[in-house]
Amino acid sequence: MPVLSLREFIRKIPKAELHIHIEGSFEPEQMFTIAGRNQLTLPFTSVDELKKAYEFNNLQEFLDIYYAGAGVLVTELDFFELTQAYLRKIREENVLHTEIFFDPQTHTERGIAFETVINGIRRALEEENQSSGMSYRIILCFLRHLDEDSAFRMLEMAAPFKEWITGVGLDSSEVSNPPSKFAQVFEKAREEGYLTVAHAGEEGPPAYVREALDLLKVSRIDHGNRSLEDEALVMELAERKIPLTVCPLSNLKLRVVEDMKNHPMKIMLEKGLSATVNSDDPAYFGGYMTENFLAVSTALSLSQAEITQLCVNSFLASFLDSDTKETMIQKVLDFSNTHSFMMDS
Ligand code: HPA
Ligand code: ZN
Repeated sequence: MPVLSLREFIRKIPKAELHIHIEGSFEPEQMFTIAGRNQLTLPFTSVDELKKAYEFNNLQEFLDIYYAGAGVLVTELDFFELTQAYLRKIREENVLHTEIFFDPQTHTERGIAFETVINGIRRALEEENQSSGMSYRIILCFLRHLDEDSAFRMLEMAAPFKEWITGVGLDSSEVSNPPSKFAQVFEKAREEGYLTVAHAGEEGPPAYVREALDLLKVSRIDHGNRSLEDEALVMELAERKIPLTVCPLSNLKLRVVEDMKNHPMKIMLEKGLSATVNSDDPAYFGGYMTENFLAVSTALSLSQAEITQLCVNSFLASFLDSDTKETMIQKVLDFSNTHSFMMDS
């Protein structure tokens, strides 16, 4: 049986990514290239200066820089190249399926047409699917710092592209913008056939997770870390098999956890929660899927069984059909049954 380093085991094991903001995969070098092409300036003079600004004390400090970066994306080619660069990275990590978020209000508010954004993103995903077989879903996120009317207008703009969009989500500044603020637009979205997810319990209290379940009827909770503060909520999430799309490096960089050794991933698994590993905003938080798995596995000494479970969970929690899920899970188990790793190499 091949014995791999932990990094190689993690890189090679089949997996799905379910929590990635495509604008959060915008690498500094590409950001400067695209800004220059569009004759736009960033509030930083160099890649080095920009990277030095990637020190965050909370979600809002990150979001301010994230929106500044996203502001140089203008043409369909920009969105295409952004998505293509992300897909090239995760292809090397044996990500077989990805469900990506995009934030159209960030772009339409600057006068960029919705179709420019989605055409670019989707063309890259389609090309990747044709060439490597990687499958994908697209999830439209409403910005929760904006009002519900703005979300309604976005839903209307998305209507002609409904076939391309599997679900709607909720992101941006969590505290003071509870899921209840968007109950009506989520209801409309569900009536139109969209699945729903929401960021909840990243900085916001467990009550926001409860609202996401009860009012937005979400299929998954994005992050969900603070659910652990409410034992009854944990039991319900476990019983109903509501997945949590957890993002270890994001949690560290945004100070949701102070030290990776205190990350709740192991506790989540022990409590029977369907936790998954994801990158959130990999260009800003220090890495893609491999780095996220490696950081949490090393800090918490996760076993091969636990790492395998996280990869199984990623397919179970996906919006793939049940036959495909089964096929993918078999690939994870086949890999894990025929490989092992040495922890200290
Ligand atoms: N939380 C909320 N909104 C976001 C995030 C996040 O981690 N990343 C991009 N938008
Ligand atoms: Zn996120």
